[in-house]
Amino acid sequence: MCGIVGAIAERNVVEILLEGLRRLEYRGYDSAGVAVLDGAGALQRVRRTGKVQELSDAIAAHPVRGQTGIAHTRWATHGGVTEANAHPHFSTDRVAVVHNGIIENYLSLRDELVKKGYSFTSDTDTETIAHTVHEMLKDTDSLLEAVQLAVKQFHGAYGTVIMDRTDPSTVVVARSGSPLVIGLGIGENFIASDQMALLPVTRRFIFLEEGDVAEITRTSVAIFDSQGRPVEREIVDSDLEHDAGDKAGYRHYMLKEIHEQPIVVRNALQGRLGETDLEGGIFGAGADDILAKVKHVQIVACGTSYHAGMTAKYWLEQYANVSCNVEIASEFRYRKSFVHPDSLLVTISQSGETADTLAALRLAKEQGYMSSLTICNVPGSSLVRESALAFMTRAGAEIGVASTKAFTTQLTAFLMLTLTLGRYNGMSKDDHDAIVKGLHSLPAKLEETLSLAVGIEDLAEEFADKQHSLFLGRGDQYPIAMEGALKLKEISYIHAEAYASGELKHGPLALIDDEMPVIVVAPNNELLEKLKSNVEEVRARGGIMYVFADKDAAFASDETMRVINVPHCEASIAPIIYTLPLQLLSYHVALIKGTDVDQPRNLAKSVTVE
Ligand code: G6P
Repeated sequence: MCGIVGAIAERNVVEILLEGLRRLEYRGYDSAGVAVLDGAGALQRVRRTGKVQELSDAIAAHPVRGQTGIAHTRWATHGGVTEANAHPHFSTDRVAVVHNGIIENYLSLRDELVKKGYSFTSDTDTETIAHTVHEMLKDTDSLLEAVQLAVKQFHGAYGTVIMDRTDPSTVVVARSGSPLVIGLGIGENFIASDQMALLPVTRRFIFLEEGDVAEITRTSVAIFDSQGRPVEREIVDSDLEHDAGDKAGYRHYMLKEIHEQPIVVRNALQGRLGETDLEGGIFGAGADDILAKVKHVQIVACGTSYHAGMTAKYWLEQYANVSCNVEIASEFRYRKSFVHPDSLLVTISQSGETADTLAALRLAKEQGYMSSLTICNVPGSSLVRESALAFMTRAGAEIGVASTKAFTTQLTAFLMLTLTLGRYNGMSKDDHDAIVKGLHSLPAKLEETLSLAVGIEDLAEEFADKQHSLFLGRGDQYPIAMEGALKLKEISYIHAEAYASGELKHGPLALIDDEMPVIVVAPNNELLEKLKSNVEEVRARGGIMYVFADKDAAFASDETMRVINVPHCEASIAPIIYTLPLQLLSYHVALIKGTDVDQPRNLAKSVTVE
């Protein structure tokens, strides 16, 4: 989704801005632009549809230079993918703006601004920000004051950075509903929507809070809250890896991230899993007092994170004896739901910035939940800062839009939450010990599973010309089938549906023919016999099946069925293990189809607008 980079320095900032945009590419975008104040005090702008490389080539052909600048990658919401709609947007030759989020009342603002004589050159909501600030500058010389007045008129979400040609020593930023971080340098300062963008230039960050407006010069940062009061915000030293943006020899980030899973899962367990039980206090100081009282868990998330939540429901109810509901955040936030007594609200998010999940958390805080926990991958993100408890998944920066290692670490975190809640709710010793054993074996089992890659490469050939596919699973493998289907559609653009296989007879059997591959996840568990009956139902209708199965599950390949053996593992970790072959299958199908694996069309890594 949209990305912002800004810089104010004594040196030329254009390369810093371009590098920042490159580091935000993973979030998904369709056009990019840069504006700087040049040595003569004039605004210079270059914008291009397509990749940052095209913008960079255009700048190389016709260089622009400046010590104050803003840059943006746009993911179209209002107005098509055109150069005119790409940011930065100008108001006359004076004000320049980049913006993430949506100004919901932009049509009425636009009407008023047109009446005042402003002409619009784009279809975007963002251009209203530029003109509104310009209008306010008629009554004040201070860009800060103009922005503080302007934001009072905006409904919706914004993370915005604004420059004024008449004051090249200052940029002003405002945050409401869209994250912004200030990067502190020595004699220079930076702004971005994501700290990843700024790691080459600084590791010291201030995360702005909702309603903050800040005035930034080369040597100072002054922050004001939504009431206009000066406030201090904590300076955080980031421990994100600088080179997380490096593919480490892999052809794609997604492949690198798939192969990182054994190591990041090991990191997620490090210092948390003891020999026979979890270590104490792993959910943070005071967390155990809260968790001991939990009788119900409400999980809210989007996309892949939602599938982690669905898997967790099976675990929490089966092993921890705690009731659990799971809901997509965009639904949860707009309906009145029932709040069970002693309920814990759990959000799951790779980015910690997903707009719907954040809105769901804020709503839940008003609804009387006992407490809130986020299972999240990005330290300092909005969900981490706004939740009472935060459990970091430690997957490291995930760049591929299709989530892989974030998912498996989320599941690992949920097994630890299951053990913790189970402790207070009569979990059986057998279940406890089996989960601990499963977790201990998890990194090595993931490693072993990755060795399947070669067989899956061959399998992928058979999918490349297909239009549709069906994924089947039962029990805690049903959400894994859903995640497998999501991966395939995200990156190969093949239509993929997932069903709990017991539902086959209630509709999807009508779709089965030899053009519709059916992918089955079949660990050797108590539902195996039921699953085998479902497989026979498909076979009887001429369906072609690809079965990922435990070797003891006694499936044999024949002309209608290809069986891929998955290492035998503890039942509790099987959903994590079976995720990997499905990730690899999607990856190799996408590779054959030649799609943009890391930045699939129309998708964004971090969805910061609703
Ligand atoms: C986007 C991403 C998905 C991700 C979802 C939720 O759709 O493309 O990969 O699962 O957002 O994101 P979150 O950061 O909240 O996990």
